[in-house]
Amino acid sequence: MRYYPAFMNLTGRPVLLVGGGEPAARKLRLLIRSGARVTVVASRANGEIAELAKTGSVTLRCRHFRPADLDGQGLVIGATGLPAIDAEVSRAAEAAGLPVNIVDRPELSTFITPAIVDRDPIVIGISTGGAAPVLARRIRATIETLLPSRLGQLARFAESFRTAVAALVPGGRPRRVFWDGFFDGPIARSVLTGNERAARETMLSLVNRRGSQQAPEGSVAIVGAGPGDPDLLTLRALTALQNADVVVYDRLIGPEILDRARRDAERIYVGKAKGDHAASQDEINDLLLDHARSGKRVVRLKGGDPFIFGRGGEEVEHLRRHGIAVELVPGITAATASAASAGIPLTHRGLAQAVTLVTGHGAEGEPDVDWAALAGGNHTLAIYMGLSNAGRVAERLIAGGRAPGTPVAVVSRATLPDQRIEIGRLGELESLVRDRAIEGPALILIGEVVALADAAAQVDAVVEALPLRAAAG
Ligand SMILES: C[S@@+](CC[C@H](N)C(=O)[O-])C[C@H]1O[C@@H](n2cnc3c(N)ncnc32)[C@H](O)[C@@H]1O
Repeated sequence: MRYYPAFMNLTGRPVLLVGGGEPAARKLRLLIRSGARVTVVASRANGEIAELAKTGSVTLRCRHFRPADLDGQGLVIGATGLPAIDAEVSRAAEAAGLPVNIVDRPELSTFITPAIVDRDPIVIGISTGGAAPVLARRIRATIETLLPSRLGQLARFAESFRTAVAALVPGGRPRRVFWDGFFDGPIARSVLTGNERAARETMLSLVNRRGSQQAPEGSVAIVGAGPGDPDLLTLRALTALQNADVVVYDRLIGPEILDRARRDAERIYVGKAKGDHAASQDEINDLLLDHARSGKRVVRLKGGDPFIFGRGGEEVEHLRRHGIAVELVPGITAATASAASAGIPLTHRGLAQAVTLVTGHGAEGEPDVDWAALAGGNHTLAIYMGLSNAGRVAERLIAGGRAPGTPVAVVSRATLPDQRIEIGRLGELESLVRDRAIEGPALILIGEVVALADAAAQVDAVVEALPLRAAAG
């Protein structure tokens, strides 16, 4: 992150604005709304600025900028659009140790101002770090359409009940549950549709009723986080993460996904890599149980889908045996994510009528799988955890009758920025994995459908070097 996001309290604070045209006027409107004490220095001020000066809303000095204008100021904004003056303002402000923003000149600025969605007191700032201001404006337009226009009123309504709620509903989880119920419920909807009086009456009775209730029971949501790209979280997974008190997560869960959890949720790592277990399955089961029993909303976050080679079933069994409510949230599994990244349809008329998700790794090394039964044509295999046994799996499939020329794809770190897609043939699977130094997590796809990969836009240059295209054509 190139810029640190922050909101400044400018109420009553002195700000210097240099410039008198429309860009300066745009900045001035916002500065006045935030309560700043603004001095404008401009050799010529437009009608709007001149009018504001007449009414005493700003102080206007109609002349060129001088470094002495910085005396006593707390913040500086340059909006003349004249390169020499902008550079002078920037230099002088930096020399005086004042934060400075020059409109559309990030290289002359120590801070930049975001595009905003304003539902005062809720303000959403959007910044692309100066990379693509037009994109920031488009994001703002999208957010504008998503947020109700009376969202600010809703925030003020809630604020007006904060003290009453704090007196009646115990702090921590019960109070958070109360407010969640409020924002999800009919009272908030009444405020948003403009019926604030009725909302106020209902709210009073709700506060009194809830004030006498006990803290609710804890629960566990077993949530699939998908293959790694946070955009592939489901909406239900996001909601669960945002309501969680505790997030218990695995090795394949990246920081971008964890960042979607409620900020003050406790995060507990129980990652399991081959030969390196931060916690045993029994310990994880007990951890989930203990937190749920203490009344917490626990999210057990697993890569991909929790019920595909994820041991989600064992956790559910354990929790249900102990009477804990369990919610199941499916996720996008590595097989479908990898196939999509490589542009490979897992089934395709004439090429594959079936797809099998199978593990290439068992508790003792090679899994107890009847590879010969999986060796038939017209059938796609998606092999999880298959890198270390790739050679043996290929041997067994070929011995079972699968052609050595069957196309294979190895997709590592699917959907993540360093995703790799390697394509070859079944007979050379072991050397493909070894020679290309493919690292996990990786998914092996085997079947005629892999030949369709080279038509897909997302397969990168690695594919270009492979002999498959000519052979498959
Ligand atoms: C313990 S399994 C968990 C599978 C997970 N529950 C799912 O549904 O995707 C771990 C294996 O999933 C596969 N995998 C997980 N994430 C992946 C990714 N981003 N790209 C490719 N393979 C992945 C790899 O085969 C890895 O060894």
